[in-house]
Amino acid sequence: MPVTLSDFEIAAAKQLSPDVLAYLEGGAEAEHSVAENRAAFARIGLLPKLLAPCAGGHTRTRILGAPAAHPIIVAPMAFQHLFHPDGETATAMAAAAQDATMVLSCQTSTPPEDIATIPGRRWFQLYMQGDHDTTMILVDRAVTCGAQALVVTLDAPINGLRDREVAAGFELPADVRPVMLDVLPQPPRPQLQEGQSVVFDGLMVFAPTWADLLQLIKDSPVPVIIKGCLRPADAMRLIEAGVQGIIVSNHGGRVLDTLPAPITRLAGVVNAVAGTAPVYLDGGVRRGSDVFKALALGAEAVLVGRPVMHGLTVSGARGASQVLRRLRDELEVTMALCGCATIADITPDAVTDFSGTGS
Ligand code: GLV
Repeated sequence: MPVTLSDFEIAAAKQLSPDVLAYLEGGAEAEHSVAENRAAFARIGLLPKLLAPCAGGHTRTRILGAPAAHPIIVAPMAFQHLFHPDGETATAMAAAAQDATMVLSCQTSTPPEDIATIPGRRWFQLYMQGDHDTTMILVDRAVTCGAQALVVTLDAPINGLRDREVAAGFELPADVRPVMLDVLPQPPRPQLQEGQSVVFDGLMVFAPTWADLLQLIKDSPVPVIIKGCLRPADAMRLIEAGVQGIIVSNHGGRVLDTLPAPITRLAGVVNAVAGTAPVYLDGGVRRGSDVFKALALGAEAVLVGRPVMHGLTVSGARGASQVLRRLRDELEVTMALCGCATIADITPDAVTDFSGTGS
């Protein structure tokens, strides 16, 4: 039976076909960022406070104002039917069982109506569609199905170059579809003239702008959180624009290679935001001690992606639930051993430089 997140990762790799495995684990180009996301956590050490009273401690916190049992959120991940026949339904059940907020992907392979009755906090990850009315079709549908916030991903205006995925010949099977995107009106594609660029004259014509974001914030019935911010200056401008949370992320290393690990950018963004909105982190979290380190450096919660898919692959809702529970258990042990009884006790002085093994 797999126990740690690493056990689930190994077990999932044995179960998945090579092309789906390449899709799940792969990243952009040489995958330096994929590796660095984890390695950067190993370069941070822990500094326990001795004899701190921890009896009665807990991991309870608030996420966007709502009470939560712990600060672990399920990251948005596309096409979950690739990993298990129950797809996003199983993930939603696991998240509900563990009192974790789930972020439903814009590229969900399960209609949001099918999971609307599963209890729990859910947010909706949104790719702006290049046309406000079309974007609002997605927003209205997600909110009607219970989404309490939008997680707008801004770090992927176009797809990155995923060499491993391409080399493995990954293609979406016919029965796994982005069911929310499939039913949207399709904008006319620009006809490229000779000498025009597919990227700049084709794809980037539909990329979101600051004006699009302002319009979305104005019309969204729920708070807007931005995912994919690595620069303090962007974070400040986003807050001024009215966003209500920032997720420091490099998209799991899947879009642009050699983006730095989010954990190395977190403190800068937290300083810039200066308490005006919550800052979250995603990328490379594989241990409860990683959650602890992110909280020490100012994150209010972390998002976990691939590990939840490993659990889903291995045993559906039960496996995904076990992954979330294990992470929380490890966080509790780390807190107790570091002398932190509550999330508020996890302060920057609990971490230090550490020349770890980098793995
Ligand atoms: C989608 O956003 C992906 O990273 O596969």
